[in-house]
Amino acid sequence: MLQDKDRIFTNIYGLKERNLNGAKMRGLWDNTAEIIARGPEKIIEEMKASGLRGRGGAGFPTGLKWSFMPRESDGRPHYLVINADESEPATCKDREIMRHEPHHLIEGALIASFAMGAHQAYIYIRGEFIREREALQAAIDECYEAGLLGANAAGSGWDFDLYLTHGAGAYICGEETALLESLEGKKGMPRMKPPFPAGAGLYGCPTTVNNVESIAVVPTILRRGGAWFASFGRPNNSGTKLFALTGHVNTPCVFEESMSMSMREMIEKYGGGVRGGWDNLKAVIPGGASCPVLPAHLCEDAIMDFDWMRENKSSLGTGCMIVMDQSTDVVKAVWRLAKFFKHESCGQCTPCREGTGWMMRVMERLMHGEAAVEEIDMLLDVTKQVEGHTICALGDAAAWPIQGLIRHFRDEIEYRIKNKPGIAAE
Ligand SMILES: Cc1cc2nc3c(=O)[nH]c(=O)nc-3n(C[C@H](O)[C@H](O)[C@H](O)COP(=O)(O)O)c2cc1C
Ligand code: SF4
Repeated sequence: MLQDKDRIFTNIYGLKERNLNGAKMRGLWDNTAEIIARGPEKIIEEMKASGLRGRGGAGFPTGLKWSFMPRESDGRPHYLVINADESEPATCKDREIMRHEPHHLIEGALIASFAMGAHQAYIYIRGEFIREREALQAAIDECYEAGLLGANAAGSGWDFDLYLTHGAGAYICGEETALLESLEGKKGMPRMKPPFPAGAGLYGCPTTVNNVESIAVVPTILRRGGAWFASFGRPNNSGTKLFALTGHVNTPCVFEESMSMSMREMIEKYGGGVRGGWDNLKAVIPGGASCPVLPAHLCEDAIMDFDWMRENKSSLGTGCMIVMDQSTDVVKAVWRLAKFFKHESCGQCTPCREGTGWMMRVMERLMHGEAAVEEIDMLLDVTKQVEGHTICALGDAAAWPIQGLIRHFRDEIEYRIKNKPGIAAE
């Protein structure tokens, strides 16, 4: 178990002062100018050495992403955009940072922006996050008053402005290019890539989009060193991370842990165990709704990191687990997710627009047992035609939960068809 001395987020539950004074007492804003004086190259090298992989779900190495930004400006401004949309069902970690640890994010934004030559950064926050926006804005205001933001931010010689922008509440606006469109005042529809944001992002200028947690861990990594961060977790999966447990655990929670800890240990130590005991576990969706479900026998040995999940045909995603006990109707649960993705599709590309509706309707019939057994393979085939054939990864996100269901719970679907238990939809 991670020791308290190695926790980055020491006020994640909001039990201590979240204002600037409290943040300073916890070690933030301590000689930020010295970190900036190291220069962009050294900062990016240290981030690479930390092994941090993006905490927004895709796990792209953060230092490497920063290094894609042009070294010198060609006259266009550079931007950092922080993704605070957090709309993936079950994912609930970034909001805790914004509510209780806003200074990690603000100091991280200054350092990251400096490293990428950006004098401005935007935080794009989800429409529903009213309290989080208030807490973050109050912290930003405090920083301006204290000279930590604005001209010569924190006495570093770097001018830096940080803007907080409220979205209208749409899952697709969490996709980085849809987010940029929305930030520009347009409909949140993903862009074709290339060009990638580092070449042409916000207003056609070089831009990096990073998740809230990816930026909020930056000040501590640079204070304690990349090697310190890399000492947690297995190689290629390093660091500490915020995880969450929702669903059928005794104590649902958000917590910081070392990467590569066993899933069972997390459920038992932080979640107070599965409701009714470990043997009552049916399945876990490991990292937000789009990650393929894992049946109980795989959860026994599951390791919470990128590589283990990939090797076992699932995904770490955001590390926010949905725990389901034996009382769960897993077919209905996946149908409900299919309904969510269908609702959130922006409709721009045909395989996603038509496929998400098609998959949802077949799932609905399977849930009622009103389908032929052969349709299971037909559904699987359709998921493969959607996966990898769309502009953004929402198509994949809609396909994966169904693929996981068919891989591990085909017998339950067939049982439905043969017995028609008459389970009602919502
Ligand atoms: C449909 C969809 C929704 C997404 N929602 C979020 C989100 O709410 N927050 C987030 O950080 N990343 C989200 N992402 C991932 C972003 O596109 C992007 O990869 C991420 O913000 C990059 O940050 P990171 O490298 O720090 O992880 C989403 C992706 C897709 C396809
Ligand atoms: S995959 Fe879906 S959400 Fe993404 S651009 Fe295409 S239609 Fe829109």
